[in-house]
Amino acid sequence: MSFSSCLDRFVSNNAEQDIFNSNSESQEFPSLRFVVQDNSPVQLGHGEEQLGGRVNFQPHDFFELQPVHDASAFLLRQILHNHNNEDSIKIIRALVPALEKCGPATPVLISDIILPEYGTVTRFEERLLRQIDLCMMVGFGSKQRSRQDWAKLFNDADPRFQIVNAQINPLGIGLLQVHLMS
Ligand SMILES: C[S@@+](CC[C@H](N)C(=O)[O-])C[C@H]1O[C@@H](n2cnc3c(N)ncnc32)[C@H](O)[C@@H]1O
Repeated sequence: MSFSSCLDRFVSNNAEQDIFNSNSESQEFPSLRFVVQDNSPVQLGHGEEQLGGRVNFQPHDFFELQPVHDASAFLLRQILHNHNNEDSIKIIRALVPALEKCGPATPVLISDIILPEYGTVTRFEERLLRQIDLCMMVGFGSKQRSRQDWAKLFNDADPRFQIVNAQINPLGIGLLQVHLMS
């Protein structure tokens, strides 16, 4: 997806890496506006010190309804991988009324690990990703998800969701482009 052609308001859940990304993108694409949301005042305060004025920082609990209704994209970066399916569905559903207002062109971008299917990557790559999967299970009762798992999660949240693009990265974080079809 080309930021410059598609986006002018980019809403991102949360924190330092997103602030860094928003800063780089905001310099490269001066017409873009960014909203970085987090429920932690510490995280938001840190961003404001670095970038005040260039990016908006908004306190928001992602279990509550999304307050921005004119976004060109919503980015959830490493937000769902440490939540189990039940909570992830609540987080996704909290976006639905805003997505209905934004229209079907507004994607939900999931920047997270997309587990490759067994045997499709090297053993080294698979071991790395499966280790993270185990850590998520032990630490948070959650999991890394394959494309199929992501598709089921979004379908369970709302059957109108469709994954239209998936960039699988065998060494780490990939990207899913998901749209709420009308
Ligand atoms: C795993 S970090 C990901 C941070 C960032 N997106 C990144 O990729 O570096 C999870 C973030 O979610 C925030 N968070 C946790 N619970 C939240 C909630 N209920 N609503 C909004 N943000 C929350 C935390 O403060 C933290 O910044």
